Amino acid sequence: MSDNGNIESILHEDRIFPPPEKFNDRIGGAYINSMEKYDEMYARSMEDPDGFWGEVADQLDWFERWDTVSSGAFPDAKWFEGGKTNVCHNCIDRQINMGHGDDTAIIWEGEPTIGSGGSGEVRTLTYHDLHVEVCKFANALKSQGVKKGDVVTIYMGMVPELAIATLACARIGAPHSVIFGGFSSQAIADRVEDAKSKVVVTCDGSWRRGKVVPLKYNVDAATELTDLIEKVIVVKRCENEIAWNDERDIWWHEVCENQEDECPCESMDAEDMLFLLYTSGSTGKPKGIIHTTGGYMVYTYLTSKWVFNLRPDTDQVYWCTADIGWITGHSYIIYGVLPNRVPTLMYEGAPNFPEPDRFWNIVERHKVTQFYTAPTAIRAFMKWGDEHPKKHDLSSLNLLGTVGEPINPEAWMWYREIIGGSNCPIVDTWWQTETGGQMLTPLPGATPTTPGSCTRPFFGVDAAIVQEDGTEVDTNSGGLLVVRKPWPGILRGIFGDRDRFVDTYFGRIDGMYLAGDSARVDENGNFWIMGRIDDVINVSGHRLGTMEVESSLVSHESVVEAAVVGVPHEIKGTGIAAFCTLAGGFEPSEELKQTLRKHVANEIGAIAKPDMLKFTDALPKTRSGKIMRRLLRDVAAGTDSKQDITTLEDFTVIAKLRAED
Ligand code: PRX
Repeated sequence: MSDNGNIESILHEDRIFPPPEKFNDRIGGAYINSMEKYDEMYARSMEDPDGFWGEVADQLDWFERWDTVSSGAFPDAKWFEGGKTNVCHNCIDRQINMGHGDDTAIIWEGEPTIGSGGSGEVRTLTYHDLHVEVCKFANALKSQGVKKGDVVTIYMGMVPELAIATLACARIGAPHSVIFGGFSSQAIADRVEDAKSKVVVTCDGSWRRGKVVPLKYNVDAATELTDLIEKVIVVKRCENEIAWNDERDIWWHEVCENQEDECPCESMDAEDMLFLLYTSGSTGKPKGIIHTTGGYMVYTYLTSKWVFNLRPDTDQVYWCTADIGWITGHSYIIYGVLPNRVPTLMYEGAPNFPEPDRFWNIVERHKVTQFYTAPTAIRAFMKWGDEHPKKHDLSSLNLLGTVGEPINPEAWMWYREIIGGSNCPIVDTWWQTETGGQMLTPLPGATPTTPGSCTRPFFGVDAAIVQEDGTEVDTNSGGLLVVRKPWPGILRGIFGDRDRFVDTYFGRIDGMYLAGDSARVDENGNFWIMGRIDDVINVSGHRLGTMEVESSLVSHESVVEAAVVGVPHEIKGTGIAAFCTLAGGFEPSEELKQTLRKHVANEIGAIAKPDMLKFTDALPKTRSGKIMRRLLRDVAAGTDSKQDITTLEDFTVIAKLRAED
């Protein structure tokens, strides 16, 4: 059922850690400090969701108040209908209006180190600074013809201009579509075509492990693949050589230079689109997930506040290590954090550049209090050795978080002890691009945690584990993870594909949102994620469709047929195993393997490169022609789970695959 290699160890875990005693003092008081309080508030959020969410929404600014808090049912649930607001206003202007313009909004650190002490270039932006930069760029976008409703594509490194660009789009009501800087030209062109986006914002390059990632070059190559791109705005970051098209290309600093530093916020309907973010599904074509304004804003604001215990006017410095190219960066670097007025740290580069202690060096120098990262990173830190964190004073840390994939108990314990000094609660947060914000998560001052469990539903989240007919399974039985009531952050659609939206999330179990994960609930009421139920794999916390990788392999002239499955991987959680049958005239060779791996990297991005690639004369299939992926998973993992192979068409195929290298 799952591609996750850690289920066995998770199943036998029974250690329970209450919130550390000192947490309440160190964090300036926990917002929710007992399970009694959690239970009471959770019950209220279920019984009176409109009252609950209306009160939260009242903590933010609205240009016009909503008529209804929630309305409609899946798949057409709406939040705050009739309300008008602007997310950028709530991130920036609201703080300035309340007299906090000089507070720090963003702390940015570049990758290349300068001087001694291991620091990179540091830029600090107050809310005033951010206001000026965002307004100028918003006006610059307008000067290039961008209007409310036009999708702007953003393909950048982790520089402050990336946050500025997203906020500028939100300000003028132009939905952004951020593409992770590790994706290929083909991926850019596909997303630009799908979103019908004419303006791309990029950088000349971005720093990664001391090397320049050629972002502008990739955008140039994308313009060869689609005619849609009319303007490319380029941030000068690495000063690498780039090609220049006078008709199309514009420097960021030039187009911003003479712009006014005031730009009014567009008044947005609560249900107007805020952004599109492409993610993988079980078919080859990535889905453009739509998030809207009001519900997403309220949901990310509250989850940030209570899950990370963000308190303004304290010494908190919050750091989420994700890239803004993923949903985690959207929700928990920018949109949920800025309205809470705690500085959000952005780091440009790799965790191990120039040395494997870079993250801990940053934590020490910036006195980071809340730290949010992915299990795959934690496993890499463990492998690099304890001496790296031990070189640094990490005593500023109050809270640790993880996201993106199941965390194995060994990594969880290491994180707690070596990074947190056994003093910090760990919030293992389960959620998805589609959910907008965290859904299953401990509350740091209240929830007893157990390594590997994402514990309880957040307020307003009616999560359950059910069977195909929608009835709940027994305690500790695996089943389908669903949400039975709409919550404010839920996706509102897949761009341009209503049928896929309805089928994927609401078509299988009547009246419920299907997450696509299997899970169980234990005797303490804690949730345990077991893995995906579809052909999606989670590589280093990044979602990939096996079909996407297969399509890219068969697009190479040498490959006739390909099957891709997940394989347990020590660091990545899940690695990619590919099985290919070759066209006549092509012979298996190490060289061809490398060519194909490179081909996939060019087609999708380096994260999709198969870790293991096998050539085979045939793929194991049922008599009706369906590839038996579960058998391939066994072959890839070198295991034999004694699966039923009575429907296998040709028994020799598996024996041959096992026999090879
Ligand atoms: O399988 C779950 C896994 O990541 C999927 C969502 O991926 P994506 O949309 O890229 O969003 C990742 C960041 C929010 C889920 O369906 N996943 C996410 N968080 C966890 C997790 N699996 C186990 N534990 C988690 N905490």
